[in-house]
Amino acid sequence: MSDQINAQFRPRIFSGIQPSGGLTLGNYLGALKRFAALQGDKAETIYCIVDLHAITVWQDPEVLRARIREAAAAFMAAGVDPAQSILFNQSQVSAHAEMAWLFNTVARVGWMYRMTQFKDKAGKNTENVSLGLLAYPALMAADILTYQATAVPVGEDQKQHLELTRDIAAKFNHDYGVEHFPITEPLIEGVATRVMSLRDGSKKMSKSDPSDASRINLTDDADTIAQKIRKARTDAEPLPGQMDALKDRPEAKNLVNIYAALTDETPDQVLARFEGQGFGAFKPALAEVAVEALSPITRRMAEFMADPAQIDAILADGSARADAVATPILERTKDIMGLLRTRA
Ligand code: AMP
Ligand code: TRP
Repeated sequence: MSDQINAQFRPRIFSGIQPSGGLTLGNYLGALKRFAALQGDKAETIYCIVDLHAITVWQDPEVLRARIREAAAAFMAAGVDPAQSILFNQSQVSAHAEMAWLFNTVARVGWMYRMTQFKDKAGKNTENVSLGLLAYPALMAADILTYQATAVPVGEDQKQHLELTRDIAAKFNHDYGVEHFPITEPLIEGVATRVMSLRDGSKKMSKSDPSDASRINLTDDADTIAQKIRKARTDAEPLPGQMDALKDRPEAKNLVNIYAALTDETPDQVLARFEGQGFGAFKPALAEVAVEALSPITRRMAEFMADPAQIDAILADGSARADAVATPILERTKDIMGLLRTRA
């Protein structure tokens, strides 16, 4: 069914990252690297720094402002080209917040309580977290559907939110008897859709983990990267020749996947070279490929960060272009819902 509806829409890719902390290797491999690779003439690409999502938990205003610019620098350093893609921050295009309100009337409260990200972030505190944290997925659906985006590249942790986006689109289309929104396809591809913590192979690498040793930040220097990899938790066994044999060794599996994602190989190709060797040999090799891949990004990020006015100008231009796509779709949505239009 989704194929049939989606054929009516022009191919358009949308994705977003929260500026709620420094970006990590997980963000790079699971998101940014793929965002850059998807640019080209096959689909329009729209990438967003989702600052309205970040404020669903407390953010210090000055720190937030700096992190929005830093995220923009990271997108560009990772290869997102503002000439090929639209790059902007969410709060500058008011259609996102307006569409989110419309979707608050479509989505059901029970859908929101079922979201595992909400349960994780709220913990036992479900009555005291912000209302925005609960409604977060309706804003995410608004981000995507305000552009009638047909595909969304994300890491594995966002799968449930994308299913909810599809539910909102389908319910809207059904309730109003229209084919106004596409049923967006998630693009969760490659070996790095879930990069795990360096300290605990059962937890994802996250910018909000209290332990800095659990992650590689895109701003870490070469020595720090090498040191974090050297200290990464592993086991005492040598590496096998195939990934199947790493089923019950999550930390080892994670490091091999990271290596493969960095060098654009399959994990089995990596293991074919390291079969029989221990982490004493593998970790320095991984540190080398990590530094080789990340140091140009860190350097370019610093160059962009040295000129905040240029970053602001690029984001302002992106916002204007995003607004031009979003506003007509928002207006049409309001028309469909029966909201009286009195201004041209
Ligand atoms: P967030 O940092 O939560 O705003 O996530 C931004 C994007 O990075 C989303 O597409 C996430 O799925 C992706 N991402 C975040 N952490 C990881 C990770 N550890 N492994 C792979 N992808 C990730
Ligand atoms: N919720 C996503 C995350 O935490 C970020 C996000 C917000 C997003 N809006 C989006 C991702 C739209 C893809 C498309 O990672």
